[in-house]
Amino acid sequence: MQNTGKIKTMTKNIVLTGLMGSGKTTLGKYLAEITGMEFLDTDDLIVKKAGKPITEIFAEDGEPHFRDLESQVIAEAAQKTGCVISTGGGAVKRQKNIDNLKSTGMVFYLQASAEELYERTKHDSSRPLLNVDDPVAVLKKLLAERAPLYETAHFTVNTEKKSIEEVSKQILELCQSQSRSPA
Ligand code: S3P
Repeated sequence: MQNTGKIKTMTKNIVLTGLMGSGKTTLGKYLAEITGMEFLDTDDLIVKKAGKPITEIFAEDGEPHFRDLESQVIAEAAQKTGCVISTGGGAVKRQKNIDNLKSTGMVFYLQASAEELYERTKHDSSRPLLNVDDPVAVLKKLLAERAPLYETAHFTVNTEKKSIEEVSKQILELCQSQSRSPA
């Protein structure tokens, strides 16, 4: 892996949104590594703040409490600049979160079909919303509900059948084209 250093001077955050399994964390880590930008994962920040895993937060405190923690860590992360920020799939549910993320970042929606998302998440039990009998149906429902929210991103990037390298190249090119365009 080569550090191109190409967008090291980029002050805006790169924000990754999309449904569970869309590759936000894997891609975010990769982008941070090749650019030298700091990596933040809002799910990790929530776990740190709560002192317990997401499954326990949902089971013991409920989803509304999880969403409050999520809004807090997003507000804090959006204060920073020059970071790659991977968000949880439900981050877009609150308009305030979208506004905060957009205030300091270029927001990318990583798009994939429910079937592909299922293939990428089926061996991982850390997502309470998918620990159900029919996770594909849940993914389809969430996709239908949230697609209009995800599509408020600055850019939509289709990740279906694409490698991490291909998607990150596309994101970095979009960032560079934006930083060149007049304000
Ligand atoms: C959620 C997505 C998860 C995590 C939580 C809820 C959602 O994050 O925040 O389980 O509502 O879609 P990932 O998208 O990183 O899996």
